[in-house]
Amino acid sequence: MELKELLKNNSIIMFGGKGGVGKTTCASSSAIWAAEHGRNTLIISTDPAHSLGDSFGLEFSPGIPTPVEGIKNLTALEINPKANMAEFQEITNMNPIEDIGIPGMGEMGMFTELQEFSAMNPPGIDEALAFAKVLEFIETDHDFDLIIFDTAPTGHTLRFLSLPETLSGWIGKILKLRLKLGKFFGNIKRLFKGEDKPETDSLELLEKLNDSIDNARDDLKNPLINSFVIVMIPEEMAVAETGRLLNELIKYNIPNSNIIVNQLYPNNSGLCEFCKSRKKMQQKHLNRIKEIFGNEMGKNIITVPLFKDEVRKYPKLKEFSEFLI
Ligand SMILES: Nc1ncnc2c1ncn2[C@@H]1O[C@H](COP(=O)(O)OP(=O)(O)OP(=O)(O)O)[C@@H](O)[C@H]1O
Ligand SMILES: [Mg+2]
Repeated sequence: MELKELLKNNSIIMFGGKGGVGKTTCASSSAIWAAEHGRNTLIISTDPAHSLGDSFGLEFSPGIPTPVEGIKNLTALEINPKANMAEFQEITNMNPIEDIGIPGMGEMGMFTELQEFSAMNPPGIDEALAFAKVLEFIETDHDFDLIIFDTAPTGHTLRFLSLPETLSGWIGKILKLRLKLGKFFGNIKRLFKGEDKPETDSLELLEKLNDSIDNARDDLKNPLINSFVIVMIPEEMAVAETGRLLNELIKYNIPNSNIIVNQLYPNNSGLCEFCKSRKKMQQKHLNRIKEIFGNEMGKNIITVPLFKDEVRKYPKLKEFSEFLI
């Protein structure tokens, strides 16, 4: 399905690709188009280095959906990984690092399981939890017709795609462990810290989170709901990276039908020698992109010219959307 159709019909669209190629610009510009075509649109940044605010030239409060000033039907949300980690720890009522340090664990025969648990606390878990939050959001009733994701550069995105799987495994483990050790943890905590909090609430919340992740995972794989749009530039390294990203999308069953080739030098006879040389290089790669990803794999290839200015703020983003859609 073409990007225009996706923007009219889908309920989730994700933009991803290598660093600096124009993901945020494409996501913002598409979000404006959808909002102005009557769809109540939410744009979410899952990149810890947020740039939605920069793209729109506005400031958004982290973690709070904020209506985009001057654009009807458009809301922006930059998720805040740190806040989510704190909230999650409160839900689980358990700081892994602190709790694993409780003396006497080894003798109680629970050490292996706890070690396993601590091994599942990988770097970037804060991002993972932020993502879990987004998944939960998708699965809760909301008024948005379309959610557009501006994802982090490829490396993160690939991990991000495997997160629904990892997360439900991870949360499932915590759930089991909590059920098994819940009473024990409660007693120890009460003993050491004088805390007296019932276990059931946090377990229920964890179970809910686990269910929403499961449902969201199905949604992300459903072509009637989600599509992943790859953004790239016509250069050798970007072609290789796009190939890898496509493989990952196939591996995780994430639908994808559009590839945006951004920043193409314009067709202009007045180009200087330097620009002519760059244009020639780009043309060579564009031909390959069209051949491999277009003809062989059947993707829609969308080309967008290099603007003479930065593409920021409403008028430029709107102009950009005319090329995109
Ligand atoms: N076609 C274009 N012509 C001119 N400038 C562009 C074009 N596309 C994007 N830009 C500019 O390039 C810069 C990077 O774009 P953007 O922030 O959208 O990339 P990104 O892929 O989101 O980067 P990151 O990986 O850091 O998140 C921005 O300053 C943007 O205005
Ligand atoms: Mg970006």
